[in-house]
Amino acid sequence: MPITEVEKIWMDGELVPWHEAKVHVLSHALHYGSGVFEGIRAYETSRGPAVWHLDEHVKRLYRSAKLYHMEIPYSPEALVQATKDVIRANGLNACYIRPLVIRGYGEMGVNPLNAPVNVVIAVWPWGAYLGEDALERGVRIKISSWRRNGQNSLPSAAKATGQYINSVLAKVESLKAGYDEAIMLNEQGSITDGSGENVFVVRSGVLTTPPIQAGCLDGITRSTVMRIARDLGYEVGEENLVRTDLYNADEAFFTGTAAEITPIREVDDRVVGEGHRGPVTKELQGAFFAATKGETDRYQSWLTYVND
Ligand SMILES: Cc1ncc(COP(=O)(O)O)c(C=O)c1O
Repeated sequence: MPITEVEKIWMDGELVPWHEAKVHVLSHALHYGSGVFEGIRAYETSRGPAVWHLDEHVKRLYRSAKLYHMEIPYSPEALVQATKDVIRANGLNACYIRPLVIRGYGEMGVNPLNAPVNVVIAVWPWGAYLGEDALERGVRIKISSWRRNGQNSLPSAAKATGQYINSVLAKVESLKAGYDEAIMLNEQGSITDGSGENVFVVRSGVLTTPPIQAGCLDGITRSTVMRIARDLGYEVGEENLVRTDLYNADEAFFTGTAAEITPIREVDDRVVGEGHRGPVTKELQGAFFAATKGETDRYQSWLTYVND
């Protein structure tokens, strides 16, 4: 998906013009994947743009950095402020937000500890991640032949740039085979997540999603959807799932900051449920998008209003 350019990017404490936000080709992260990042969205509300779960995303960024011994040279409060500043500077009402912390230029060799830590926050308009009609029609997915990186090789507790090369293998395999997205199994054969989304199944009105320990990212949309579903009266469980649990589900859907709540209509050429967005998925989408727009009082604390 081509990027829609805007004016400014926040880089190491300053708002710089879009085309001047550059790093050296010998930056450590380019060679060894030594970066951590976040994906966040800001939504349009009647009070102007509001960032969805900003504090949670900033906390996860610090947890990811800690795992890789990266000291972020700004406080969480400063990054919250920088996020608001860069959205305002670009005059955006809604956008995707990409904070990135990398090991920069100055050292070569695998040891990252003496390389500087650079911080970037970029924003740009980004529509539905899996295609404009995906939120309604759903997507076709393939269980990947690639396994998800194990907890003791590249831990899924961190959102590190390097581990996404695993997601890239699965994503490209699924696209080349004519599907929209992939789901990876762990080495034990349990479902983990998509290349950039968590997964849920619905059976007899009960929602189930794999536990974090299966090897999926501790998704913020995943927790949000679990909370919304329970508030709507659904039973929600975290259990290991195998691929046939997807084939035999009444409904299945992805959750993620980029993908939001995207129905899954086919898995490995087997139709899931009725083959289109099911009633539970639709109800959850309705509650989710109302909350992102600031229309739900009980979920107001999930929004950080940019102009406040
Ligand atoms: C592998 C993977 N799983 C799940 C998710 C969903 O996480 P979140 O809802 O926090 O965006 C993402 C996106 O960040 C991801 O990259």
